[in-house]
Amino acid sequence: MKKRIGILTSGGDCPGLNAVIRGAVKSCQQLGYDCIGFLKGYEGLYDPVQYLHLTNASTKGILNQGGTILGSTNKGRFAATMGVEDRVNIDPTLLQGVANTVDHLSLEGLICIGGDGSLAIAQQFHEFGIPVVGVPKTIDNDLQATAYTFGFDSAIECATDALDRLHTTAASHERIMVLEVMGRHAGWIALHAGIAGGGDVILIPEIDWTFENVCHKILHREANGKKFTLVVVAEGAHLPEGGMVGEHKEGQQMKLGGLGRIVTDELSRRLHREVRLCVLGHLQRGGAPTTFDRVLATMFGAHAVRLVVEGRFGEMIAYHPPDMVSVPILEAVHKVRTVEPDGCAVQCARALGISFGDRTAYETSANVFKKVNSVPAPSHLEPCHNEQLLESAAAAVELALA
Ligand code: F6P
Repeated sequence: MKKRIGILTSGGDCPGLNAVIRGAVKSCQQLGYDCIGFLKGYEGLYDPVQYLHLTNASTKGILNQGGTILGSTNKGRFAATMGVEDRVNIDPTLLQGVANTVDHLSLEGLICIGGDGSLAIAQQFHEFGIPVVGVPKTIDNDLQATAYTFGFDSAIECATDALDRLHTTAASHERIMVLEVMGRHAGWIALHAGIAGGGDVILIPEIDWTFENVCHKILHREANGKKFTLVVVAEGAHLPEGGMVGEHKEGQQMKLGGLGRIVTDELSRRLHREVRLCVLGHLQRGGAPTTFDRVLATMFGAHAVRLVVEGRFGEMIAYHPPDMVSVPILEAVHKVRTVEPDGCAVQCARALGISFGDRTAYETSANVFKKVNSVPAPSHLEPCHNEQLLESAAAAVELALA
């Protein structure tokens, strides 16, 4: 019997899941493995076991398709576990059921594609002795141990496009436009889309802000002849008095949403201006993956198969540009990777005059590059000591000047 690998997609979907599946299936076929895909995330692993045989033929044409052909869920029987620090143990009957499925189907390994919650489940599988490897997924880009998760680039492409569109209509009507984007614990989407799409104010969970400062920025722009303003709000940004905005259901992760409306109404009330709101919502999670996400997801799929073949269970594939490495899954679910309030993207935004609502517009950006300047030059910028290389470079320059 041919060796077999299983694969599943868990948690909120995002563009690129199908590209990972295809990458893994193609790679399996090259290596002489069969691949089966479990349905509806972890649910398909047990009671009832539900899966599809995945082949080159059955995954044809899915590279550029959004969503996941396997289906996904973030609210199933396994979703009780939240992470390692506030750990909720999975019911041992479920774990044993999954272990039996893996045995019965003679799986050499199980590839689990998911964000922090889903990978925390994979970690508990690993601790139970189920052979799993992880693939990091989330539009929020908030997983530790990998520079990028696939889905993020597609989400910021969508949010940037929305800002481009809002820009022209805001300018035409001299309006303040608020765009609410996703981002539960981390403001990466708001930050990157805000920079790429010309946002004027960016509110993120990592930086405390006040309405006074946001109003000040808007009035300062108006005083300088800019009669419209684009405000980008991450749904997980905290209110000035503290707390996130959304629906809270007993025993479930809070369903975020609504901060954009509060910001819109309050700015309108304080400034007596016309303020309009656009909530991007799940548009950020749908549609075709960008080229970057297709490449990243395909690499994740192929390298995840490699991890199974090499028996590196309990590890997650991670992108450390330019390399694809593996790290313990535990490292990825240990802590959320948030925006550094002093990091280079925030510094850049401040240097452009973008407000994070934490200062008045008069407070200048004079100190924003302090941290960057104090970092020593990376070694690859140090002078080259390879004599042969230097000689051939000198010869090339001579030739060019001749
Ligand atoms: O974690 C990814 C994410 O897109 C968050 O930004 C958002 O809060 C959440 O998923 C939404 O999940 P759901 O689709 O279950 O509403």
